[in-house]
Amino acid sequence: MGTGTGPVPISMADDIARARELLEHATSVAVLTGAGISAESGIPTFRDALTGLWEKFRPEELATPEAFEANPKLVWDWYAWRREKVVHAVPNAGHRALVAIERGCREREADFTLVTQNVDGLHRAAGSRRVVELHGNIRRVKCFDNHHAIESWQETADEVPTCPRCGSLLRPDVVWFGEALPPEALAAALAAARTCDVFLCVGTSTVVEPAASLPYIALEGGARVIEVNPQPTPLTGSASVSLRGAAGEMLPLLA
Ligand code: APR
Repeated sequence: MGTGTGPVPISMADDIARARELLEHATSVAVLTGAGISAESGIPTFRDALTGLWEKFRPEELATPEAFEANPKLVWDWYAWRREKVVHAVPNAGHRALVAIERGCREREADFTLVTQNVDGLHRAAGSRRVVELHGNIRRVKCFDNHHAIESWQETADEVPTCPRCGSLLRPDVVWFGEALPPEALAAALAAARTCDVFLCVGTSTVVEPAASLPYIALEGGARVIEVNPQPTPLTGSASVSLRGAAGEMLPLLA
């Protein structure tokens, strides 16, 4: 997938102009991003990550508290493998364009909130300021029993590291299937969806709740939805503008 901004197909030029106009006149912009925006930084989407060594597993076998309790080393190793990819990744043109859109909002005193389902931290690395991480951050670690935040730990080949405070096993600080989202992050995301007049939905399949409901909450409040995704999603039919392309190509055209 390229990251350049090649010529825009004529059929898309109208949609891009409409999306730009919506963004330029918005008084409050909410953005929701998913794995698709980081694909161009070389980070496999959640389901794509189950390849190679990991292809025999289903996400539910690796990303639940039950999976961790049953086989902590397997789950720790999978996240260590994903963390390795994340720490070497750099933000792409899509991340940078969202920084520019936020700056534009700030300059004309419009509200802006970027809600992400991604755990890679690339929005902040790009320079986005108002970022709500709904699913945690894979670069952080906490202990399983008491959620003590852990700054550094020692990797060993055989065992999952333990918490220096309580001795419980360490785990990634991400939200697993079946777990509650961080309450402040969820509240901030809901508030942004309720109050925005433009909702930009980028690189998410909009199937995993509660994030998947955010664009519909925005629609109920009268907001216009702009979607950027190379594939149609359940949201596409409700979007005012649907830009069928890669985030790294489409977003710079809106910034
Ligand atoms: N630009 C924009 N979108 C893209 C790109 C790209 N370059 N490449 C792929 N996509 C789209 C795909 O078409 C798909 O709709 O990104 C979406 C990725 O979907 P998912 O893998 O389901 O990721 P996401 O929606 O972020 O998943 C939500 O579910 O797996 C759990 O907790 C995990 O945060 C994740 C959540």
